[in-house]
Amino acid sequence: MQLAIVTGGGSGIGAALVTRLATAEPNLMVVAIGRTNSKLDAMRLSMPEEERRRILTVQADISTAEGVASIVSSIPASPIKYLVHNAGLLGPISPLADIDRTTWDAIVATNLSAPLFLTQALLPQLKQCVDMDAKKARVLHISSGAAKSAYCGWGPYCISKSGLNMMYRCLALELSRENILVGSLRPGVVDTDMQLPIREFAGPEDTFPMKSKFISLHKDGKLESPKNVAWFCHYLLSSVDEEEFIADEFDIRNEKANEKWLRYQSEG
Ligand SMILES: NC(=O)c1ccc[n+]([C@@H]2O[C@H](COP(=O)([O-])OP(=O)(O)OC[C@H]3O[C@@H](n4cnc5c(N)ncnc54)[C@H](OP(=O)(O)O)[C@@H]3O)[C@@H](O)[C@H]2O)c1
Repeated sequence: MQLAIVTGGGSGIGAALVTRLATAEPNLMVVAIGRTNSKLDAMRLSMPEEERRRILTVQADISTAEGVASIVSSIPASPIKYLVHNAGLLGPISPLADIDRTTWDAIVATNLSAPLFLTQALLPQLKQCVDMDAKKARVLHISSGAAKSAYCGWGPYCISKSGLNMMYRCLALELSRENILVGSLRPGVVDTDMQLPIREFAGPEDTFPMKSKFISLHKDGKLESPKNVAWFCHYLLSSVDEEEFIADEFDIRNEKANEKWLRYQSEG
């Protein structure tokens, strides 16, 4: 059996993706990683018995070397078909001038360093995938509009997601030589726990002037659903051509991509 690995699999986009993969691909064992066992357990228990048996939860902090080592030792030594670097931290909303080193280190370690060192640690199992069914393993980074646009108050998040975008581009070049495809997705503004501290920010308006935009998107029902984003992720992992997968960062809101995506959706 091949593996799909999803970091941040206990909530939001990650939980929706774990359930999507377990439902749509009965030959996969899906590994959900997060720091909080109760969230991982709730996600797993929400699934029917058949899918639940193919979901493995691993409690680990991806931002530490120990966490990465414990992931490697907790999963079966099987080929990895999909690796999705989804876990992410926004951190406290604050001007960069006031960010302390501990906060900075935690955000960079989670959003930027963890995807690199986890990919490195799992390379032997990613490489096995092509031997098993002649299909190349796919690694997907969950990026953000903040990788491209600067937001007041979100400095460490924007900087780490921007770095993650360049990491995807470098890895896409280097790992395609090893038959591993690396892609990246901006998922839009998604209705998950990450949006709560954004809407509830109680500091000065000039620290985070964009707050009202996020409140309006929520009020007007314009947030993407985690389920839809998970479906889009699965489309990228399973159905997009190899060259297209690595060529450029995907944006779920990009109308150019919509035609093929809508056809895929209509086929269920
Ligand atoms: N929601 C949006 O509007 C939006 C927009 C653009 C991009 N994104 C990106 O989408 C991804 C998923 O976020 P989400 O919106 O689904 O929010 P979420 O529900 O807060 O998910 C983040 C997940 O990451 C896990 N996590 C955080 N730090 C971790 C660590 N050190 N080790 C292991 N797991 C860790 C969290 O679980 P634990 O706390 O239990 O570890 C949580 O399950 C993130 O990369 C985010 O930047 C979200």
